[in-house]
Amino acid sequence: MSDTTSRPRWGQTELELPVMPAAPPEGREPLIRIRDLNRHFGPRHILRGVSLDVYQGETLVILGGSGSGKTTLLRHLMAMLRPEDGRITIKGVAAGGRDLDMASASDEDIESYRRNLGVVFQMAALLNSLTVLENVGLPLVEVDRLPPEQVRERVVESLRRVYLPAEEILNLKPAALSGGMRKRVGIARAIIQRPRIILYDEPTTGLDPVTVNGVNELTLDLQKRLGVTSIVITHDMNAAFMIADRIALLYKGRIVACGTKDETRLNPHPVLQQMLTGSTTGPLTEGYGS
Ligand SMILES: Nc1ncnc2c1ncn2[C@@H]1O[C@H](COP(=O)(O)OP(=O)(O)OP(=O)(O)O)[C@@H](O)[C@H]1O
Ligand SMILES: [Mg+2]
Repeated sequence: MSDTTSRPRWGQTELELPVMPAAPPEGREPLIRIRDLNRHFGPRHILRGVSLDVYQGETLVILGGSGSGKTTLLRHLMAMLRPEDGRITIKGVAAGGRDLDMASASDEDIESYRRNLGVVFQMAALLNSLTVLENVGLPLVEVDRLPPEQVRERVVESLRRVYLPAEEILNLKPAALSGGMRKRVGIARAIIQRPRIILYDEPTTGLDPVTVNGVNELTLDLQKRLGVTSIVITHDMNAAFMIADRIALLYKGRIVACGTKDETRLNPHPVLQQMLTGSTTGPLTEGYGS
């Protein structure tokens, strides 16, 4: 009997096969290059050889099940975790405009990189005891040590960029804002140092559909107006297809799919297809785990 149709086309090992980053399209160059990144927490091997390129000016969405290591990957890109194995290099962001090699970077290099980096945390992560002005202006006070008038000016500019009524909310505490406004304030803080790179960790989780669209449009707008390179972690497929130039899937500690929106729709990888369709049958729900 040669009944090949009943045999599953994807074995567990095949599901986990990493994709190597493709050669960049003409005229583009990778700003961020991740190669064979590994991370253990105790005996658990969370990132198991992540390789990924992020091009200058693009928005790359990273999908992945809960616990698959998305935030862990982002924490490496925030320089909160150094690579235990493998390499992360970022063009032109170290001190003096040199390329940054995350493993060997000095404190000065990391500080220079962080000035080029904005981070939007999942729950906006505003400090409750500080006003909007103090929250958004924090990096300018602590890192750039700008005088108060300049801080205020830049905070107002940043709040306007995210379409918030700056003058009305400057002196309010986060508790007095709606969830959507808090998220926007979080984005205003992320862009206040005019970063070249913005990392978003589930920026729309827990928001109503209208605010979700607003935050997505804002991400697109920032890319167009400021030319930033963005990495966005999201569970929201609509958001992914609305904002992404390319979509990557992190599964079992590896990037197992990465491509344009069209390539993603056509990619037969069962985990990707299960995520796209939201189906309850597929590897994510059949014992292969996240
Ligand atoms: N500092 C840490 N110490 C020990 N284990 C950790 C640490 N940080 C993360 N982990 C573990 O690594 C795994 C990946 O966590 P991570 O937060 O990166 O997942 P995630 O993909 O962001 O999930 P979610 O979608 O739920 O946010 C989890 O099992 C988590 O328990
Ligand atoms: Mg996470």
